[in-house]
Amino acid sequence: MKLTLKIWRQKNAQDKGAMVDYQIDGIEPDMSFLEMLDVFNEDLMSKGGEPVAFDHDCREGICGMCSLFINGEAHGPDRGVTTCQLHMRMFKDGDTITIEPFRAAAFPVVKDLVVNRSAFDRIQHAGGFISVNTSGNTIDANTIPINKKDADEAFDAATCIGCGACVASCKNSSAMLFVAAKVSQYALLPQGRIEATDRVLNMVHQMDAEGFGNCSNTGACEVECPKGISLENIARMNREYLAASAKG
Ligand code: SF4
Ligand code: FES
Repeated sequence: MKLTLKIWRQKNAQDKGAMVDYQIDGIEPDMSFLEMLDVFNEDLMSKGGEPVAFDHDCREGICGMCSLFINGEAHGPDRGVTTCQLHMRMFKDGDTITIEPFRAAAFPVVKDLVVNRSAFDRIQHAGGFISVNTSGNTIDANTIPINKKDADEAFDAATCIGCGACVASCKNSSAMLFVAAKVSQYALLPQGRIEATDRVLNMVHQMDAEGFGNCSNTGACEVECPKGISLENIARMNREYLAASAKG
């Protein structure tokens, strides 16, 4: 396949940045999108160019590091997959592909296609955990009965990989789907109920402090989420937040 790539190049956080056009040939339909970028970077370096910086780690749809906005969609045109699981067979010979970083004020560009998503880490630190007594008197989690529906919904919420596609897809740069997934993961389980009030208040407070926008129920986050996290989690988080605010 022969392709035209329009790639966002930005030297550092201070640089204004611009789209730059490149040509690439010899791309196989079975290559992943990131393999295509590897081949592209090797070609660029062989000609003395500076390789394009992009984030990746597991390349298996697990870690949430890959974060490209491809042809106007977070993680590109396929559904239910991350950028690292996207394959070049989704494109045609002769196509032009636009590649940009995830854009949001709370995700500043570090270089080229790499953005700083540490705002998500700080939200997690604010409450995305349970405290476990490790004194030797810990109750075995398997001895606490949990009904199947709650267990399934908690598991579904826990599949959020923290990639940030929900933020990049939202016209308000809202992080509600991510935060709601983390809140729901614990709110549905007895182990998570103990700290539920502080958790939702602290995580929502940190989300606001990081500069993410509000949810206006457009639903783009749910469509672009590679893990199919449901908007129902946002409704659950809003209920949790209301109840916690009334208590506090
Ligand atoms: S909710 Fe979906 S899109 Fe948002 S961070 Fe989690 S996995 Fe990524
Ligand atoms: S590189 Fe880990 S999810 Fe894509």
